[in-house]
Amino acid sequence: MAKEFKRYLVTSALPYANGPVHIGHLAGVYIPSDIYTRYLRLKGCDVISVCGSDEHGVPITIKARKEGVTPQEIVDRYHAVIKRSFEGLGINFDIFSRTSSATHAKNASAFFKKLYDEGKFIEKTSEQYYDEEAQTFLADRYITGTCPKCGNEKAYGDQCEACGSTLSPDELINPKSAVSGSVPVKKSTTHWYLPLDRYESFLREWILDGHKEWKSNVYGQCKSWLDGGLQPRAVSRDLDWGIPVPVEGADGKVLYVWFDAPIGYISATQDLTPDWEKYWKSDDTKMVHFIGKDNIVFHCIVFPAMLKAHGDYILPENVPANEFLNLEGDKISTSRNWAVWAHEYLEDFPGKEDVLRYVLCANAPETKDNDFTWKDFQARNNNELVAVLGNFVNRALVLTQKYYGGEVPALGELTDYDRQTLEEMGAIKSQLESNIENYHFREALKDAMNFARIGNKYLADTEPWKVIKTDPERVKTILNIALQITANTAIAIEPFMPFSADKMIDMLAVEKFGWEQLGSMGLVEAGHKIGTPALLFEKIEDATIQQQLDKLAATKEANAAAEAAQNIAPQKEECSFDDFQKMDIRVSTILEAEKVVKTKKLLKLTIDTGIDKRTIVSGIAEHYSPEELVGKQVLVLVNLKPRPLKGIESRGMILMAEDACGKLRLLSPDEKTMCGAIVG
Ligand code: 2FM
Ligand code: ZN
Repeated sequence: MAKEFKRYLVTSALPYANGPVHIGHLAGVYIPSDIYTRYLRLKGCDVISVCGSDEHGVPITIKARKEGVTPQEIVDRYHAVIKRSFEGLGINFDIFSRTSSATHAKNASAFFKKLYDEGKFIEKTSEQYYDEEAQTFLADRYITGTCPKCGNEKAYGDQCEACGSTLSPDELINPKSAVSGSVPVKKSTTHWYLPLDRYESFLREWILDGHKEWKSNVYGQCKSWLDGGLQPRAVSRDLDWGIPVPVEGADGKVLYVWFDAPIGYISATQDLTPDWEKYWKSDDTKMVHFIGKDNIVFHCIVFPAMLKAHGDYILPENVPANEFLNLEGDKISTSRNWAVWAHEYLEDFPGKEDVLRYVLCANAPETKDNDFTWKDFQARNNNELVAVLGNFVNRALVLTQKYYGGEVPALGELTDYDRQTLEEMGAIKSQLESNIENYHFREALKDAMNFARIGNKYLADTEPWKVIKTDPERVKTILNIALQITANTAIAIEPFMPFSADKMIDMLAVEKFGWEQLGSMGLVEAGHKIGTPALLFEKIEDATIQQQLDKLAATKEANAAAEAAQNIAPQKEECSFDDFQKMDIRVSTILEAEKVVKTKKLLKLTIDTGIDKRTIVSGIAEHYSPEELVGKQVLVLVNLKPRPLKGIESRGMILMAEDACGKLRLLSPDEKTMCGAIVG
């Protein structure tokens, strides 16, 4: 029999405060958790949703070092940016806390101390990488090298972002310090380890036997970790940023960020309510962790082992992790700025919060990685939100205004078609509920939109704008039904598109409904006066989408340039002044230019060198069109030995600069110069 729960505790992965949140975070974690929580709230359940920023760990110290500021400045900045983004998108946590809070320091410290005092850790001294230049141990991301699994030369000491493997610094080939760039040495250091192997049988039973209902990607990852055999895991680090290890003699050591961060869920609940224990210590609380796929092992293996070792707290009932969202076919990346940032979206698309929520849910990477494209964003807005939801609501409200001055008309006798429509609407409710409760939010969104689809079809089929001329009584029933469907749609879409749901409630001029009212008639009573209709969504034009695509193209170009800058060719062998003097370089003008047939790269140019007029064949057809070249002044090596190219004798070479990306640019004097002028 299914377990009965009295309350819900929803947690959402604490985002690292080393950058803003992007659409990948939103689609993977925060929009699903918000939909789930809003649904439970609407149902009147006792539910709290906690989140906060993850403010420790090496990514934050690396960012601070790069910018030359303190880690505190970084986390203060991004905590605020992230919090504002969530608020702007209507992601309504009951608390958005921080792991740098005093409550958390006390809490995480006490958690560690309890396990330490009870002998739940093992202490191990081992050789770890140390940067002698910077005089610091190199934890996790402070060490880079070649991934032993895929050969990526920029893998980190804890993970390879190219192939997704979890690594340890010892596995890296050619390790390098990310602090000074030097080759690190090994030095001995002592740390505390949680012996995960001791929790293996508990975890096997709890997950593999007890939670077969978990999503297959989550269950599968857990199974492969457990089948691979668990090893003790260090829970402390040699760093100066984090919560100090609360043990005598542990100076310079802090709790590993993945030890303290999940305890942040408990601390956030404590900061939210003095009644926090009822959420964390009662078996009748259903705890659900919303996370991304890279967090599965920490939430399904490590944190549950910590909770089990501690003994006072409940375990999660489910851990619905999503896969990754890509952007325009490429992996989203904070460091490469390949992302749609939540705060920038809010600036670029004011009033369109629900459009992003809708698109990210409709396209959520629930079972496999998915792709976000701006064209799809536009199409979903124009063809689904505008054409279906917006259109239906607008027609129902505008016709009520037009025919009845905004007063809800009375329901008359129902036709078979009316009854069939209402039955259809009633049938969606349980499917929608089951989809949300089983974390199938994409399907659930389709169910919610089906209310509007039914309404749209109902109006298209009944054609009140025509019937009004022949049977005005019948139109009253049609519009009454259309308004009931509108009210139902407002309830159904609230978890997904809260801003639009609120607008609909305002336009209907009614009090907010509860979930239990979904599926019923009589939500707006005859005689009630509705408010002024306004458009819920507007068409997004091609130009708006192009702006976003241009922004991404500029990012791509900047990334390529930055990468190329690291690949500048080394200086050539020295040459003597006499060697250089042998080169006869002259300012020349291009008189004619034409493509060399059957080639992609070659142009045949007629050049005035000042000495003579001659032909040069040049490989610039992919960089310049013949038209842009005619009249241009260039520098020409005139005494290069003539050579035949595609049957044409080329007499000289046009000088060009080639950057590390292979882009060619002609070199010209900075003002018009006489042909034949000597360059040297
Ligand atoms: O992957 C991340 O962004 C982590 N900061 C998630 C932490 S979740 C929890 F444990 F706090
Ligand atoms: Zn790899």
